[in-house]
Amino acid sequence: MDEKSLDEIIAQYASPSGRILGILREIQIQERHVPMDTLKLLSEKIEIPLSQLYSLVTFYSFFSLQRVGEHLITVCMGTPCHVKGAVKNLKVLQECLGISGESQDGKYLQTTPDNKFTVEIARCFGACSMAPVLQVDGDLYGYVIPEKIPEILEKYGWKR
Ligand code: FES
Repeated sequence: MDEKSLDEIIAQYASPSGRILGILREIQIQERHVPMDTLKLLSEKIEIPLSQLYSLVTFYSFFSLQRVGEHLITVCMGTPCHVKGAVKNLKVLQECLGISGESQDGKYLQTTPDNKFTVEIARCFGACSMAPVLQVDGDLYGYVIPEKIPEILEKYGWKR
């Protein structure tokens, strides 16, 4: 993000209440992630330690330090979803989208080369009764079985 755009965002959030999260949220939306160099620049401009900003970005799942694709798929790996088949769902998603990788320390984030889809994992959306659950761009899908995955992806422009 260039300095002028960042200044414009900062100017929108003059009030101290919710200022930092508001600015970070705006950066996330515009850039589809929070670039590290933008975070450093923001730290200097609003005089908040970089470590504090970094903690916020890594704490809230809404933020990402890596660029995310046009559609964000979040697979719940909380215990009820895990037990009811979330691992298999993730595997089928990876196969359909041609991405790979293992989760590390409970974190996983992979984006397709065309930047269309990003797959991440999370811990519990509070919808355990519908396990296994996943979200696409905030749309919640419950009782997901592997056979349903292509049908869900097609709603977001994926082609078999
Ligand atoms: S564990 Fe998946 S919604 Fe709660």
